[in-house]
Amino acid sequence: MIRRLGVNVDHVATLRQQRGEGHPNLLMAVQEVLAGGADGITVHLREDRRHIQDRDVIDLLEMGVRLNLEMAATDEMIGIATRLKPAACCLVPEKRHELTTEGGLDIRQNQGVLESAVNRLQDAGIQVALFLDPDPVQMMLAQSMGVGVVELNTGGYSRNPESSILKQEIKASASMATACGIVCHAGHGLSAETLAPLLAIPELVEFNIGHRIVSRALWVGLREAVAELKRMIHSF
Ligand code: PXP
Repeated sequence: MIRRLGVNVDHVATLRQQRGEGHPNLLMAVQEVLAGGADGITVHLREDRRHIQDRDVIDLLEMGVRLNLEMAATDEMIGIATRLKPAACCLVPEKRHELTTEGGLDIRQNQGVLESAVNRLQDAGIQVALFLDPDPVQMMLAQSMGVGVVELNTGGYSRNPESSILKQEIKASASMATACGIVCHAGHGLSAETLAPLLAIPELVEFNIGHRIVSRALWVGLREAVAELKRMIHSF
């Protein structure tokens, strides 16, 4: 089975935005990430533009990378995505004051908005994923909306990797999603240590990892930080 590693480079942009002088250069970082074997690049264009900027999205697309654009299901973001046409979009809930995405979308509370966003993005030829907590009910709701891909939120598990219940929830949701014909990705908070047990869940075909790769890069460099995870995924 070919499994993909998407690398989220938001934190390279966070460092750049702290000084506003263009360092570190995001596109050079992306080249290192790709040299390490990443299968795609993920960026979250936030409403407050705290790290990734609109120009970055354009530059990455011009570079020809397979781009997964994380975004809120707002008119502004859907407009940007349908104009720029990244390969994939992952819809996430967004709160202005959160440090990072805090949980998955609740389809029950937002069905109308999400349905419209999914349709507009899919009509533009973009693969759409919903970022969902590992809850089998949400998987069934995703199926009823005609969603082809979900990204399971591994944030809770990553903070508490000893919990067999949290791992079990991911496994059960991945099985349920796959049984519903939905392709299953996973991401948020993952590291080499927390990724390893998830490799035993065959339904998880893509992992999106950012913060811990950029952190690890301080010790081994960005290319090697990505390559380590790729070796782990491939040798499983
Ligand atoms: N997947 C989603 C949907 C996210 O919102 C994020 C964080 O932007 C990630 C994956 C990557 O999380 P982390 O940076 O903690 O690896």
